[in-house]
Amino acid sequence: MILVIGWRITADTMDKCMMNIPTIIEAEKLLNEAETQNPGAWIGHSKITAFCAKAIAERCDNLNADTAYVFALLHDIGRREGVTDMRHIIDGYHFMTSLGYDDCARICLTHSFPYKDINSYNGKNDCTAKETEFIKTFIENTEYNDYDRLIQLCDALALPDGATYIEKRLVDVVIRRGFNDLTIPKWKTFLDLKDYFDKKAGTDIYQLI
Ligand SMILES: [Fe+2]
Repeated sequence: MILVIGWRITADTMDKCMMNIPTIIEAEKLLNEAETQNPGAWIGHSKITAFCAKAIAERCDNLNADTAYVFALLHDIGRREGVTDMRHIIDGYHFMTSLGYDDCARICLTHSFPYKDINSYNGKNDCTAKETEFIKTFIENTEYNDYDRLIQLCDALALPDGATYIEKRLVDVVIRRGFNDLTIPKWKTFLDLKDYFDKKAGTDIYQLI
């Protein structure tokens, strides 16, 4: 029989027990190493995404701010492999899986698809056909949790040097990359995410970031 005296399972403890993630120090070390391999604006973007995720998570009862910070900090870690487009999500997934951090690996894949359609990706598909099929199947079969949703939102809010308004970011992407049949449903998904976290946080999230 195992008797643990003085052990109290808090929401934070439960969260950390269930999640398979590195510590904040390990996560920051991984990002620093990645920067030496492939420096660029994505490092600042990752740090701002993490800042936003932590600030919003602190106001949400069911989220742990440190967990949100680590997920956000590593969401683009696949960019350590070099300058790539959609490939960074599968590279991040494999890197995190190789370290045993399956929950971070999941975020590497889900962060780019708030709208569950692989064709909604903002950029070039530089993955192989097999990898594309893997991503498509993973996204379709994954029921998003609030960490997936939070990192999707914060990814869209984070520029390399600070947070911006989601509406401004959405318009900016269309000006640069054009408008297609998926633009409106995607905009709606992002605006719904913003509303969702406004309600959970009990305030306009722009006040927090
Ligand atoms: Fe990102």
